[in-house]
Amino acid sequence: MALREQFAYERVESRLEALISGGALGPGDRIPSVRELCRMERISPATAIQALTNLEARSLIFARPRSGFYVQSRPHLPLPTPAHAIARPQRPKVSEHVAQVFRDFDNPRTIALGAGIPHPSLLPTTEVARCVSRAARQYATDFGRYGSRETDLGLRKEIALRLSLAGCTMSPDEIVITTGCMDALNLAVRAVANPGDTVLVESPTFFGILQMLESLGMKVISVPSTCDRGLDIAAFERALSRYRIATCILIPSFGNPHGASLDDERRQTVVDLAARHGIPIIEDDIYAELGFDNSRHRPLRTFGRSGDNLLCGSLSKTLSPGLRIGWVAGGRYAEDVHRLKLVSSITTPQVTAKAAADYLRSGGFDRHLRGLRKMLETQMCRISSAIARAFPQGTALSRPGGGYFLWVELPERVNSLRLRDAASHHGISICPGPIFSHTGEFSHFIRVNCAIDWSSAVEAALQTLGQLAHVQNDSPSENS
Ligand SMILES: Cc1ncc(COP(=O)(O)O)c(C=O)c1O
Repeated sequence: MALREQFAYERVESRLEALISGGALGPGDRIPSVRELCRMERISPATAIQALTNLEARSLIFARPRSGFYVQSRPHLPLPTPAHAIARPQRPKVSEHVAQVFRDFDNPRTIALGAGIPHPSLLPTTEVARCVSRAARQYATDFGRYGSRETDLGLRKEIALRLSLAGCTMSPDEIVITTGCMDALNLAVRAVANPGDTVLVESPTFFGILQMLESLGMKVISVPSTCDRGLDIAAFERALSRYRIATCILIPSFGNPHGASLDDERRQTVVDLAARHGIPIIEDDIYAELGFDNSRHRPLRTFGRSGDNLLCGSLSKTLSPGLRIGWVAGGRYAEDVHRLKLVSSITTPQVTAKAAADYLRSGGFDRHLRGLRKMLETQMCRISSAIARAFPQGTALSRPGGGYFLWVELPERVNSLRLRDAASHHGISICPGPIFSHTGEFSHFIRVNCAIDWSSAVEAALQTLGQLAHVQNDSPSENS
């Protein structure tokens, strides 16, 4: 089929759309006026108005009377309802479910709306590749030996420096470099708990944590965490008093899946309560650098006696999931973490550790992060607006101030596992709610990843998902 030439208004519309999706124009930013567009693009006022009207019809921009057009911010849907109550200790069984959810994952034709994987276009992959090639040349002899505490010292110093900028001062000596955050969490929990022990998590929480505890033969107790304030402190206190808990794994900054964060006052209370019961907290800090207002939450460690709590993080969500660089700052458990790392995988590949240190030292990371946050916020607005337009009445939506995810509560008649199956037939993958709970709660919730490359195909996929949800919602017999 011959490609037709774009009309002038389509060209301007695409150009403005690219500025919005690329983050150059963020939520609430003013769009160039009709007069400015005419001058910049050498078009007539009618053409400029047509382009703006189209963007407005697609909810990308909105008009303020006598002021002009602005980039759309997020719609105000109600917040999703939290988990019902503390769920008593039991062994999690989510692995099979998760495996099923990720079945179509590697299919390049699938529009992946669920998995928390950043689209490569959001990351500085060329710069990272350059650092890796340079490190491979410079440290070629590292391929001929195992690493030691000396070979990754450069990276440990860079991480200690970044954490100290977040108010968390520590020596590089207590940091162990790991193969991503998953490895970090695994080592941290094994340093403070044994098979059969009970670990407290938030509900909902990242399914990877539940899978890990399942594989380690540990039991899980979960405490409700709300979309606006994070962990329910009163329930947390009750759980600590009532049950014998070995450790808590918390995601207090832009949590997965709901994007909620604890404020400083609540961080202090959580740390004090855990200290009173002599329970170490393992903090998963992986999204903490992704606050849309460019501020960074202080890690929980800074609220207590330094060394009592463990801090895990990685570069997977901010720089490169493929580098597989993570860390644990183990506090007084650092030697145990180090020993466990030796036992499980000896070291993390040293050449990539050196490449990561090189990238962090280069000074471009903060600039990249500012762009990434802007893009994530823009995508979150667009996806929120698309959900508000396409999903059934009664849908509720989280409003995170950072991170990757939107937590969506559909009307109760919609079953998210069945929605997953239906979506999969349309080449769309989603993350259904029950994988975020060790008791299978959240049957009418889904998690949506906003770290994607926005396109008309994504927009159409969200619309299709909305239609599928409508079908379930309107057919009560399907759910009986
Ligand atoms: C909260 C949380 N922790 C840990 C991980 C795993 O991170 P990594 O890829 O660095 O192992 C993820 C990935 O989705 C996550 O969302």
